Amino acid sequence: MSDWISVRVAERREEADGVVGLILAPTGPGSLPAYEPGAHIDLKLPNGLVRQYSLCGPQANGATYELGILHEAEGRGGSRYVHEHLAVGEVLEISAPRNLFPLVPGQPALLFAGGIGITPILSMADELARQGLAYELHYCTRSATRAAFRQRIGETHAAERVHFHYDDEPETRVDIEALLSGEPTERHIYVCGPNGFMDFVLGAARARDWPEERLHSERFSGAAENADGDAFEIEIAGTGQVIHVPAGLSATAALAAAGIEVPLSCEQGICGTCLTTVLSGVPDHRDMYLSPAERAANDCFTPCCSRALTARLIIDL
Ligand code: FES
Repeated sequence: MSDWISVRVAERREEADGVVGLILAPTGPGSLPAYEPGAHIDLKLPNGLVRQYSLCGPQANGATYELGILHEAEGRGGSRYVHEHLAVGEVLEISAPRNLFPLVPGQPALLFAGGIGITPILSMADELARQGLAYELHYCTRSATRAAFRQRIGETHAAERVHFHYDDEPETRVDIEALLSGEPTERHIYVCGPNGFMDFVLGAARARDWPEERLHSERFSGAAENADGDAFEIEIAGTGQVIHVPAGLSATAALAAAGIEVPLSCEQGICGTCLTTVLSGVPDHRDMYLSPAERAANDCFTPCCSRALTARLIIDL
């Protein structure tokens, strides 16, 4: 990426157990690009890692961006670096915002956040409140101490709009049956959080025939989820070499083990860095980068997270 923006860590605070909040400000004169709720940026860390984080601060101020970053002990090192090393005053590079999880304009919404999935969802709640639209925010965490931005949410959103659900306080657990009972309304559902949480919410909505066009989600998948699925083979068109991708290993990991490096950044199907041409076979697209039309064409895939629906994919590498 060529258009990196230089920013300084203007503020760092502990938002909740395991969650650091960062305020990023431009290093020079001028403002940061505007963004829509649901957008994320690439954050280039001093250790060379590039990671994607949703923006959760005020969209209109242009003076700062706000991020909430969960310490993922089993992660790939980005969040660990932020938690253990990143200090106020440090200068970083970020991309311009991109949005793969936009709000449908002018429509009422039911927002579900699981854990750190609050970051894009909070940005949406702020915008819905600003526009005076109907919304409800359901924020689920393991405990109250793990709920990031709790104070700010309480101060900026009417109490009847916001519902906190804590696993260790059973009386607060989300009653999805009650929430989605009755006829699907005009509301759109937006979900972000761990895979199990998202499957729970989306599965409940689909079981009640909630229209697909009113279901919106952003999935943060980890390496384990990327490797989930049947074994398949990859044939390299140029050389004829065949690589076995076993269940439990991502395609990029299998390729790397065979000495074939694919450029990687997010490793979650968000950025498109690993996009690879497919000459034959049908990919099992698991990314959020390709449009529905691009997926249907089946002539490329993101091997960091996607797999195959056919026994073999022939790729152009
Ligand atoms: S590395 Fe980002 S989509 Fe594959």
